[in-house]
Amino acid sequence: MVDNIFPVITIDGPSGVGKGTLSKGLAKILGWNLLDSGIIYRVLASVVLENKININHEEKVAVLTETIQITFINSKNNFIISFNGKKIKKDIYTETIGNCASKIATFSQVRKNLLRYQRTFCKCPGLIADGRDMGTVVFPNAKLKIFLYASFKERERRRLHQLQKKKLNVNFELLLSQIRERDERDYTRRSAPLTPAFGSLILDSTYLSAEEVKSKVLMYIRESMAFS
Ligand code: DC
Repeated sequence: MVDNIFPVITIDGPSGVGKGTLSKGLAKILGWNLLDSGIIYRVLASVVLENKININHEEKVAVLTETIQITFINSKNNFIISFNGKKIKKDIYTETIGNCASKIATFSQVRKNLLRYQRTFCKCPGLIADGRDMGTVVFPNAKLKIFLYASFKERERRRLHQLQKKKLNVNFELLLSQIRERDERDYTRRSAPLTPAFGSLILDSTYLSAEEVKSKVLMYIRESMAFS
């Protein structure tokens, strides 16, 4: 594995822990590129469901990842996402898609095929990479690796708050059981399981606000840049 040409900061952790908010905030402050790797798995899940591909058929799903190009067009603050030129119509942020994405993410051939594509996001001046295996597999030579964590109870509370804000009418118990199932799968799968990368800074955000998490991480970044 050669060194990344441009600096990379990886942010890994389970679902609903605040990785997305942190990664977007850091990318904005530093003016760096952003890779939200979960979107790739979610887009694949959406394509699999839309085309009625058998989700348990690793080879058929892996074929989709041989040549992959996902584009995002910002239209009136909404992202239009295309997969190999075809518009994704489904809402990819539902828990059903998340769960399906997590199933697809257990396939080692899929993960292997996605490696090169994910690494193309490492461009000038640097990259914030958000996911589950950013520090362990995709960017093992990252300058700084963060593993963000929060108790399940707190993640539940945040999720409920989000849903109430959006006024979405969902079966909360069902949603929680789906999130638990997804976490369990992400932590225990054989290929690139969710685990802190060697040398990561493990940050427990249970009792911290999003702003406090961002400030702490910015402090780590300044320290790690100062020593390099
Ligand atoms: O971060 P997210 O919730 O959008 O990710 C959806 C699923 O995709 C997650 O449950 C597991 C999978 N995933 C992964 O296996 N590796 C990544 N780097 C990112 C996501």
